[in-house]
Amino acid sequence: MKRHIKSNVYWVGKVDWELKTFHGHEYSTHRGTSYNSYLIMEEKTVLIDTVWLPFGKEFVRNLAEEIDLSKIDLIVANHAEPDHSGALPELMRYIPDTPIYCTANGIKALKGHYHQDWNFHPVKTGDRVSLGTKDLIFIEAPMLHWPDSMFCYLTNDNILFSNDAFGQHYATEFLFNDCAEPSELWAEAIKYYANILTPFNPMVTKKIKEFVSMGVPVDMICTSHGVIWRDNPLQIVEQYLKWADNYQENQVTLIYDSMWGATRGMTESIAQGIWEENKELTIKIHNAAKSDKNDIITDVFKSKGILVGSSTINRGILSSTAGLLEEMRGLGFKGKKAAAFGSYGWSGESVGMISEALQRAGFEVVGDGLKVQWHPDDAAIEECVRYGKQWAALL
Ligand code: FEO
Repeated sequence: MKRHIKSNVYWVGKVDWELKTFHGHEYSTHRGTSYNSYLIMEEKTVLIDTVWLPFGKEFVRNLAEEIDLSKIDLIVANHAEPDHSGALPELMRYIPDTPIYCTANGIKALKGHYHQDWNFHPVKTGDRVSLGTKDLIFIEAPMLHWPDSMFCYLTNDNILFSNDAFGQHYATEFLFNDCAEPSELWAEAIKYYANILTPFNPMVTKKIKEFVSMGVPVDMICTSHGVIWRDNPLQIVEQYLKWADNYQENQVTLIYDSMWGATRGMTESIAQGIWEENKELTIKIHNAAKSDKNDIITDVFKSKGILVGSSTINRGILSSTAGLLEEMRGLGFKGKKAAAFGSYGWSGESVGMISEALQRAGFEVVGDGLKVQWHPDDAAIEECVRYGKQWAALL
């Protein structure tokens, strides 16, 4: 059933309560997600985005109960990723000639996904289409977060349809930010930014400044995931500007994996030293093999410094730690200090390898790290505490 948003604008998407992972298994969705699709029913009728493929038939069936599908004048595909375009093949079976407005890169991506030569209309920033008394203006947003990504803006109603930007993987029956539980909403919003948008910080800043310079009023930001920002909609835009500016809080995060507890013991002793040196710092500790990797990444995002530890195994590092280092390399954090530590039996390569990986990932690696042979004894524990104190003093 469609849900009213404002004037002649309706939500016609799908709330996916049971989704536990997104992007395959790359992103945990502890609170599910939603695929937000919008229907504008002015003199012209516009459908903005669709839903993920598994819900395609349901989406089209529901839409057909709300509107004669042949009355849809145009479809806007703000983004070609299948969570938003997945219902297009089903929909286009009924209305095969309906124009699809998207960027030139959107055409390439949609053709690449579905191998269909639909009636594509490429648009650029500033292009507009009249819906009668209101216009829909298109704004390209490349790499927010795909090359094809685009926003569109509905005049008079002052609604920005931002697609993925400003979204959250958050299933809620409450459509609007002022109805959602704030701590849940913000936890999902920062996790989404940290894990998806971090590599694109410069583009986020540039696009927001460009949009602000247009000087158009914004009454609502209709995202493609999670809640619609209705109450003080620009609060999420202001927050994005902070997050995009190599964000950090007064936090340090220790990430480790351990075969027999020696590296875990080092972690706890280093954390003890950090706490003794600076009781204002928030200290987070994660076992890389046990904590959710996206939650770890969110803590890294919030940190001014991180310490990564692993036992040495087979002249290398434990696979959970290696996977996380690869994830951090891709995200390209900047302006954060880092160091490595770990226990070993006889060869002890882990600390050097972690340090190199942290450097490659863009961290400012401080010192050569800390190695302990076998299980830490009292002297080694003291050394770890001392190391933690020294490290905290650098932050
Ligand atoms: Fe929600 Fe980039 O897809």
